[in-house]
Amino acid sequence: MRQKIIAGNWKMNLNIDSGKDLLSNIIDSDLSNECLTIVAPPNIHLNTFKAMLSHTTIALAAQNCHAQPSGAYTGETSVEMLKSVGVEYVILGHSERREYFSEDSLAISYKVNAVINGGLRPIYCCGETLAQRQEGEHFETISTQIKQGLFQLNEMELLNCVIAYEPVWAIGTGETASPEQAQEIHSYIRKTIADVYGEIVANSVSILYGGSVKPGNAKELFNCPDIDGGLIGGASLDASSFATLTTSF
Ligand code: PGA
Repeated sequence: MRQKIIAGNWKMNLNIDSGKDLLSNIIDSDLSNECLTIVAPPNIHLNTFKAMLSHTTIALAAQNCHAQPSGAYTGETSVEMLKSVGVEYVILGHSERREYFSEDSLAISYKVNAVINGGLRPIYCCGETLAQRQEGEHFETISTQIKQGLFQLNEMELLNCVIAYEPVWAIGTGETASPEQAQEIHSYIRKTIADVYGEIVANSVSILYGGSVKPGNAKELFNCPDIDGGLIGGASLDASSFATLTTSF
């Protein structure tokens, strides 16, 4: 079940033409089949991109969803809608959603449930701010985010989740957590899971690192025993960098 993964989070970038160009270049690149490659474009591109991906092994992710199945939620997208266009993964709890859209771990846990109940797989993000790290609160922050967002799930459901550790201070800043810092948190996340679900479950969940990952620093991060790949922002917008990351294990 524990799988190596490179997931590209395009965030709110690229229109349909530039998006298609990037995706075509990614499809034509030498992607390693040692890891699963996922792309998470803006929702408006998902349907078109699914058709482009039909003869590839690249999986499609959304960057967010609503917790309710349907109804009067202007501007929102349900899990069922994502499923109907072939989405397999949904990024949830990204720090940008937590910060700019006031999502907390409890609200995100409802989205996690919706994704799991809809048969898709969440990529659940957690991570501390710089202030929290400087105050020595990073372990507690991560543990609270993991427990509140995911621990309502049963064992089988948790096994369908991917976790991404993304220290907020490293996202889009060019600052990367050192391999030691990242490994320390990844192993702590695994221990937090093991304490409740047991070692086998904890060792079966893929935990990705995110935060300024690029070809120059990926290998040393991905070599860490508890890091199973990356959630990639900036470097996922360049086909050759993104492809190189898939070969960095
Ligand atoms: P970054 O973004 O690689 O640009 O730091 C990572 C993310 O936000 O998922």
